[in-house]
Amino acid sequence: MKQRLHLLRLLADGEFHGFRELGEALALAPVDLKVQLEALCDDGFELHTRNQSALALATRVEWLDTERIRAVLKPAVRQSLGSIEIFDCIDSTNQRLLQAPPPVTGHGSVCLAEAQSAGRGRLGRSWYSPPAVNLYLSLSWRLENEVAALQGLSLAVGVAVADACERLGAKGIGLKWPNDLVTAGGKLGGILMELRSDCAIIGIGLNVNQSCRQMHAIEQAATSLHTLAHGPVSRNQLAGEILNAAHPVLAGYARDGLGPYRERWQQRDALRGRHVVLSDNPGCLTGVALGIDTNGAYLLETPEGIVPVNAGSLRLRELP
Ligand code: BTN
Repeated sequence: MKQRLHLLRLLADGEFHGFRELGEALALAPVDLKVQLEALCDDGFELHTRNQSALALATRVEWLDTERIRAVLKPAVRQSLGSIEIFDCIDSTNQRLLQAPPPVTGHGSVCLAEAQSAGRGRLGRSWYSPPAVNLYLSLSWRLENEVAALQGLSLAVGVAVADACERLGAKGIGLKWPNDLVTAGGKLGGILMELRSDCAIIGIGLNVNQSCRQMHAIEQAATSLHTLAHGPVSRNQLAGEILNAAHPVLAGYARDGLGPYRERWQQRDALRGRHVVLSDNPGCLTGVALGIDTNGAYLLETPEGIVPVNAGSLRLRELP
């Protein structure tokens, strides 16, 4: 991945570069350069060649940049967030913050990466993390609540992330309990909250400028923000907007809980009124989706009555 990112950085200006120049810059033999170029294509990047001797990236790359993110932040958010670390490639931004010292009360730490080698999704799944096109952002926040009261925190953050995406021109973003951001075209992103005794780590993964080819690498139907926004989306702007929107949720959660966000979550509920089934449930619980309760549990109307669901994932039930 290191060499692939180096190659991407050389090509990021969109100009043509000679094969020999690239090979020398990376200290790679032609055959190894070819392997790296093929890997870039597998990552979904389109390359133009000229006279069999030079090539250029079909699209420009906007690199993540701390200063550009900070420039988007509201003053109070800028002050409250300490470091914003950006890695070229890391195993997982959540893992990084799980291992870092906790932020002090009222402050948060932020970590982003261009690519993740072991990106984590919910329920032990992996998170597809190709370089330089998407957002992989984790934010840690010191806890003042009992862990049990935190179920709603990641739901409230989901509302904030959807709002931030819409500020960049994407419309029609829904939430699928507990933490998927979805549209009619498929999954746009997800949130993975991991807890330590002293802080919560909230990991946000969003498909931003991901190509169709990259979309096919994901097992389920997926979409990307640039499709909804009808053009490339600035990942730095997006990261700043997400931090602006998530900060008040985190700063106010100990006092307000899910309350101020519950109705906004319900308005984005992608499953409400539909027949759903709870995955990974041995009893195969099915019912009609009613929305979330005050704690963030999802309510299902079943023949036995209304059942609150606290774990697992919901999916649409195929009716005969
Ligand atoms: C899901 O399964 O829908 C949640 C995906 C969360 C992915 C993000 S990417 C940034 C952070 N680091 C990780 O390893 N995972 C989260």
